[in-house]
Order: sequence, then structure tokens, then C-alpha cells
Amino acid sequence: MPRSARGRAALAGTAARARSAAARLARSSAPGGRGAGETRSARAGFARTLGPQPLAHEAATVTRILYGRLSEQDVAATEQLIRDTPGAWEHYFAGAERAHNHDLLLALGMWLGSELLSERTGLIRAEPPEDIHAMTRGAQNAAGGLYEANMVIDALTGAGADMSLIGAGLDFGCSSGRVVKPLAAAYPEIRWLGCDPNEPAVTWAREHLPGIEFFASGNLPPLALGDGALELVYAISIWSHFKPSRGELWLAEMQRLLAPGGYLVMTTHGPTSVAHYASIGQRSAAQSQEILDALYEQGWWYAAEFGTTGDWGVLDPEWGTAFVSPEWVLAQLCPAWRVLEYAPGRNQDNQDVYVLQRV
Ligand SMILES: C[S@@+](CC[C@H](N)C(=O)[O-])C[C@H]1O[C@@H](n2cnc3c(N)ncnc32)[C@H](O)[C@@H]1O
Repeated sequence: MPRSARGRAALAGTAARARSAAARLARSSAPGGRGAGETRSARAGFARTLGPQPLAHEAATVTRILYGRLSEQDVAATEQLIRDTPGAWEHYFAGAERAHNHDLLLALGMWLGSELLSERTGLIRAEPPEDIHAMTRGAQNAAGGLYEANMVIDALTGAGADMSLIGAGLDFGCSSGRVVKPLAAAYPEIRWLGCDPNEPAVTWAREHLPGIEFFASGNLPPLALGDGALELVYAISIWSHFKPSRGELWLAEMQRLLAPGGYLVMTTHGPTSVAHYASIGQRSAAQSQEILDALYEQGWWYAAEFGTTGDWGVLDPEWGTAFVSPEWVLAQLCPAWRVLEYAPGRNQDNQDVYVLQRV
């Protein structure tokens, strides 16, 4: 089957799966449904009036750059490709005349194998197989982690960074490269690197995402890069896992790797995450309270939650689930870093986003 025909068949399957997931969700949140007891009390008890906050600058910059490379005819051709896939337009764009969600247009077009789209945007169509670590997969994510890529660049821009001065940028904890993929397409003049201790993920990324330098990292610093080699490091959902003592070691390594004035964009679990997990019933009321107490008393909570098989085979006793308070982050960072941005809960209404500048 040609790639685009396979893509169409899989896209129709994805649409059907999404419909049945929505139906399951509706059933489980119906009165008396699973999770009605403990979940509901946790939700009520940990809700915050101080909700997630936007970044100082929200412009979906990466999407705008990539979509901006398309002519009106390119957009129309991509829309037509989606319309030609049975059920896809109705499912993803409902009754809309045009594809107003540009992330989705890019993703579905890439999923369907549009060579035009790859050519114009520089995006690569490559989906890791099920046995390779990836935080997101499937049709809606076929342009990579656009949500996270936009978040990184908007956070930097809001903090006053000039992207034309970034020579080299590292995705620290890159998995199979979903976030660095759209960034490398949007900013081809930057030298992009990605590292992760999950060797199969890094190997897959190196083989399928040309032009980006992927390498395996150890659980402990240092990385095999020179002092001041980078102007940018970003780390999505990495300091949300380090035991704080390990997190401090890696923060010191980021100081070494970044040139003075360089940026570290990172996300971590904070107080908003307590409300988030309580609201979806993922942590009990008792555990949510334990985390809040620990944040109040010592600024962090940590549990080694990956068990004996580790995180997709990566074994590290200091890698689990971490929550840290902004107070703890500030105490560890200043004065070696400047804190340029703090957006509580900005990552998926869950993790806090920080932009730090190496002094
Ligand atoms: C939650 S995932 C986030 C991946 C990626 N940043 C993204 O957003 O797609 C965490 C990543 O950290 C990696 N990791 C596991 N153990 C680690 C360790 N000890 N030190 C650093 N990274 C680790 C995992 O392999 C995984 O790719």
C-alpha cells in the first residue's frame, strides 16, 4: 500500500478510536461512574482559584513560521487531502469550511504523507514504532510536539530572547525527538542537539531525523559537550522526575554548558500539578495532601515511582516523580541564574514553566 493510502486507513482508524475514547470518558464521568467517590472529593478539596497562567507572550510562533511557508494553494491542497480521507474532515474539523486549527492541518497533512507539506515546511514524516519511547504518537502528532515547541519559543520570546542569537540548542531528555523536530524545521540555521539516556529512542531519532545531533546521555553529568557550547537548553518534563539532589547536579551542568546569557527553559510539577492530578483522579486526596504538606515544609516531594524495570528500561534510583515549589527553584537557582519567566501550570494545565538565564 502506498504510504499515503496507509496513512488514510490509519487516520480513519484514529478517528474511530477517538470517538470510542470520548464515549468511554462520558460513561466514566456519568453519575455513579468509576471514580465517583474518592476522585470527586479530591477534586473538590484541591481545586485552586489561582488557575494556570499564560506566558507573557503567547503567539504559537513555531506553528506560524511553518504554516506561513504555505501558499493559499498549498493549504487548499492539504485540506483536500484530508477531505479525501473518509470521515476525517468531519471528525477533526466538524462543519468548518476551512481548517482553522493550523497545528492540526500540519499534523494531518504530514500523517497522510503530503510531500508538498514536507518540502515547504521542512517537517519530516517519521513515526516511532510502538516499542520506541515517544510521549505522543498518531495522526494528531505527526508534525511533532508543536504544542511544546510553541511553548518553548514563546517563553523565550516573552523573556526577551532573540532567536537569531541562538547558535546551538539542546533538547535535554529528548526521547525520540518529537519536540526538536518542528524546532529544527522552523529554525534550520540553529545547530540542534538532543540527548536522552534511553538509547533505543536516541538511536531511532538519529536514524530518522537527519540534521539533528542525537546522543545518549548517562544518568549523571557531564554531557560530552564543551563549556559554554550552547546558547539554549530546554527540558520538557525532566525536572518533574529528578530527585531534587540529582536535579541540582544537572542544574550545575546546565550552568557549565550554557554560554553566559544563555537560556534554560524547563518544566516541572508545582502546586498546580497537585490540583491537576487530583482533578483527574490520578492521585488520592491523602497523597495530594502529603505532597502539599511537603511542598510547604521543604519545597519538594519525591517518590521513586518507576519500579524495578525503570522508565522504559532506563534504571535510575534518583528518577521518579518530583514536585517542587517555586520557592525551592528560586532558592537553588539564584544568584547563578536569573528567573525571566514563571508560568504556573502553563504546560498542559499541569506543570510550571520557567525561563532561566545563566548569569
Ligand atoms: C516525560 S519524558 C519527556 C520526553 C521529552 N522531553 C518530550 O517532551 O517528549 C522523560 C524523558 O526523560 C528521559 N529519562 C529517563 N531517565 C532519565 C534520567 N535519569 N535522566 C534524564 N532523563 C531521563 C526518558 O527517557 C524520557 O525520554
